Amino acid sequence: MTKKLWGGRFKKEVNREFFEFQKSIGYDYKLAEEDILHSMIHVVVLRKSDILSPAEEKRLLAALEEVNKEIKEGIRENRYRPVAGAEDIHTDIQNRVEHKVGTLAAKLHALRSRNDQVVFDEKYYCLRAAQDIRALLLNLLGNLLFLMKKYPEQPFVGYTHTQRAQAILFRHYLGAFFHMFERDNEQLKRFHHNVFLYIGAGALAGSHLRREDYNKAIKELISQGLGFEKIQSVENSLDNVSNRDFIIEFMSILSVVQMHLSRLAEDLILYSTQEFNFVDLPEEFCTGSSLMPHKKNPDFLELIRGYTGMIYGNLVAVLTTMKGLPLTYDRDMQLNKKPLFSSVETIKDELKILPEFLKKLKLNNDVIARALEAKSLYATELAEFLVCNKQVPFRDAHTLVGKMIRYAEDKGKQIDSLSDAELKKFCPSLTRGIIKTVMNPRYAIASKKSISHKNPRIRS
Ligand code: ARG
Repeated sequence: MTKKLWGGRFKKEVNREFFEFQKSIGYDYKLAEEDILHSMIHVVVLRKSDILSPAEEKRLLAALEEVNKEIKEGIRENRYRPVAGAEDIHTDIQNRVEHKVGTLAAKLHALRSRNDQVVFDEKYYCLRAAQDIRALLLNLLGNLLFLMKKYPEQPFVGYTHTQRAQAILFRHYLGAFFHMFERDNEQLKRFHHNVFLYIGAGALAGSHLRREDYNKAIKELISQGLGFEKIQSVENSLDNVSNRDFIIEFMSILSVVQMHLSRLAEDLILYSTQEFNFVDLPEEFCTGSSLMPHKKNPDFLELIRGYTGMIYGNLVAVLTTMKGLPLTYDRDMQLNKKPLFSSVETIKDELKILPEFLKKLKLNNDVIARALEAKSLYATELAEFLVCNKQVPFRDAHTLVGKMIRYAEDKGKQIDSLSDAELKKFCPSLTRGIIKTVMNPRYAIASKKSISHKNPRIRS
C-alpha cells in the first residue's frame, strides 16, 4: 500500500475505492513547483531552529531541487506518474525525497501541515497565473491598439439593442474592448499587489517555529523570483488555513475577463454572418460542416462564448463549496483546485489564440459603406443640429425628425431626396443643404465633442 503522510492511529487498511475517491494527485500535481518551494522554505526554517543540521539542510534542499526537476520534466514530457500512487502532491514529493535521502526525509514534515502547504501553494499559483494572464492581456491590448492605428478613419455602424443606432469609427468600436481588457489588467494588478504569501499556520494553531524565520526565508527564496515583496505577517493562523477568498477573488476577475471575451466573440459571430457580412473571419480559425459543403463556422468564437458558462460555473462551484464550512480546514476545500485550474487554463488558451485571430480579421469595406448609407443612422445628428444651430427645442426636433423618417419610409424615398418644400413642412428652417451636410458619417463623427476618443496608451 501507498506510503501515506498519516496512518499511525489506524488499525485497518483504508478502503481501496474510498482511497481512490479522496485522492487529489490527479490534478494537484500542477502545484508541484509551489509545494517544493514551500518545502524548501520550511527546510531553511527547520535548520534555523536547529531541528536540522546544516548538512541535513543541504541534503534535503538538493533532493528537493532534484525532485522539482524530475516532476517538471515528467509533466513537460507527458510522462509524470506519482510514485507509489500517492494521494496528493504533498505525499508524492515526500515519497520522492525519501527515495533520495532515506530516513532523513522523515524530518521534512516536522511541525508543518498540509493545511498550511495547500494555502501557500494555491496563493503562489494564483499570483503566478495572474502575472501570466496579465502578460497575455498586455499582448492583446497591443494588438487592439495596432488595429486601431491601422484603421484611423474607417467608419463603422454602432448598435444599441442590436438595431442600427449611429455611425462611429471602427477604432472607437475596438477601443471599447481595449478599455475592457485594460480594466481587467488593472484588476489583476491590484489582486497581485494585495495577496501575500505566508507560511507557519501549522494545522490551524501555528507551531514552535518562528514567524521571523519563515518571513525571512520566504523573502530570500521567492521574492527575487516574483520581483517584489510578497510576504506579510498573518495575524491569525485559523484564518490562514481557512482562507480561500483570494481564489474567489481571482476567479471573479477571470469571470469578468471571460465575459469581455464572450462579448467580443458574440459581436464577431454576428458581424460575420451573411446577414451582416461586415467582417471575414480568418479561415485558419474556422471549421466546416460534415454535411453542408458551403459552411465556414466561427468555432473559435463560439467556443469562447461557450466556455463562459464553465468559467462562471467554476466560480459558483468554489463559492458554494466555501459557504457554511465550519472553521478551520475542511476537506471540501480540496475541490476548489479543479475549477481554479480549469478557469486559468481556459483563459490562457483563449488569450494565446485571440491576438493572431484579430490580426487576420478582414473588414468588408463595401458592405460597411452600404450600411452607412442608410440616412436613419444620422437622425440623432440632425436633431442635435437643429437644437444647437436652429434653436429648436429638443423634444420638437426629436418628433419632427422621427416624422420625417416615417414620411420618407412611407413614400419609399431616402431623406436626402426630399424637396425643400417637403422638408419645410416638418421644420421651416430645414433645407436639403442641411440634410446633405449633417446626415453622413463624416459629420456624425466630427460633431461629437463630449468625448475625445483619443487612442489609448498601454499602461503595464
Ligand atoms: N489534498 C488536500 C487538499 O487539497 C491537502 C490537505 C489535506 N489535509 C488534511 N488535513 N487532510 O486540501
